Amino acid sequence: MKDRSNFSNKLGFVLAAAGSAVGLGNIWRFPYLAAQYGGGTFLLIYLILAVTFGFTLMIAEISLGRKTGLSAIGAFRSLDKRFNFLGILAVIVPVIIFPYYSVIGGWVVKYLFEYLRGSTSALAEDGYFPGFIADSAQAEIWFLLFGLMVAAVLFGGVKQGVERVAKVMMPLLVVLAVFVACYSVTRPGALEGVKYFLIPNFANFSWMTVVAAMGQMFYSLSIAMGILYTYGSYIKKDVDIEKSTKQVEIFDTAIAMLAGLMIIPAVFAFSGGDPDTLKAGPSLMFITLPKVFASMGFGTGAGILFFLLVLLAALTSAISLAESGVSTFEDQFGLSRRKSALLMGAVIVLFGSASALGFGALDFVSLLGMSILDLFDFLTNSLMMPLAALSTCILVTRVVGLDKISKEIEQSSRFKRKKMYYVFMKYLAPVCIVIILFSSIANVMGWIAM
Ligand code: PHE
Repeated sequence: MKDRSNFSNKLGFVLAAAGSAVGLGNIWRFPYLAAQYGGGTFLLIYLILAVTFGFTLMIAEISLGRKTGLSAIGAFRSLDKRFNFLGILAVIVPVIIFPYYSVIGGWVVKYLFEYLRGSTSALAEDGYFPGFIADSAQAEIWFLLFGLMVAAVLFGGVKQGVERVAKVMMPLLVVLAVFVACYSVTRPGALEGVKYFLIPNFANFSWMTVVAAMGQMFYSLSIAMGILYTYGSYIKKDVDIEKSTKQVEIFDTAIAMLAGLMIIPAVFAFSGGDPDTLKAGPSLMFITLPKVFASMGFGTGAGILFFLLVLLAALTSAISLAESGVSTFEDQFGLSRRKSALLMGAVIVLFGSASALGFGALDFVSLLGMSILDLFDFLTNSLMMPLAALSTCILVTRVVGLDKISKEIEQSSRFKRKKMYYVFMKYLAPVCIVIILFSSIANVMGWIAM
């Protein structure tokens, strides 16, 4: 087998995995889900899932990648042909996520642009964001711009440069987020929001909370879509997989929690905890943060810096998403890189435009009670990813064998959480995923109210 080792050391791997993990999922998606699905209850369930499921699945994907030395599709094929459909899922998921990810990326670019122009107080006005996304031409242009940025980075050969810049800037994002979070939580009235976000209140529990938390965990950690197999195939045998996984998870979760602390208390301080704002969904970050920035000294500077850093984090995630899409296209359908990139580009423009226009020209389209963007998000995070995760559990326990995975991990270190790993992979994960899969289907079909 040729040596695919590409990451020069453990840190290289951790940084690459963190670059893929930390993105809009943490800063845009996590806070709005937490706000919508019961605050502290959501947070607690998310944390439990991340250290159990998330951890086991990440370890499984990384070690399968390292063991086979192949990316997801190759790994599935070399292990068992019956699991080829997992390869198809690994193509479909990034192809659906990337377009709508770029729509949100476009919103970030637009806000960065507006802060650069000094529109700080205009952005904080109530009608600004709904007005912006209802303007189809604008939504489309900013979406295309973000998509082009990703393409330019990927094909312009500056990918490593961008990743290097992002790595240096990420600590700055943490510092800025800590600063803004401190500002937010000390506003009058914000304490209610801090309590809402941090303290579980089981009156707020519903099955949808669990479904949402699980989908978010897959999404945020970049699991169940083939990416970690590829990264795993690049690492050397002496990298401690367990420890690296833990580091990526801690970093990813810390950023999500900071984003929650920036945004949710601000809903209470600036909008009086208005339930409609809490349930604003994908718009939440864009309607809440401008109010925070507008109310503070140096708000314009903070806005510029914040949206710039978020843009960088979004770019590194989008790059990993696009790469995984393009390379799985190549592997799965035997296309050349050029052809698969073109094909992927066409799909992106089509799906992305549909998502971008879903709040404007296409706002009459509502499927299963969701806007187009929400529908894509739901299909991937609540249906396809759990399905892929479930199949991974079956692949690991039935085909590869749990012992082989632990041997792979033990090549570099003691496997400390081996027992938990076995119990999860074999019993808890599959059972819970099946329950959750059915509840999310039943919920959208309106069979049960959750
Ligand atoms: N994990 C990224 C985020 O949180 C999104 C992503 C999903 C990236 C899947 C790659 C693959 O924003």
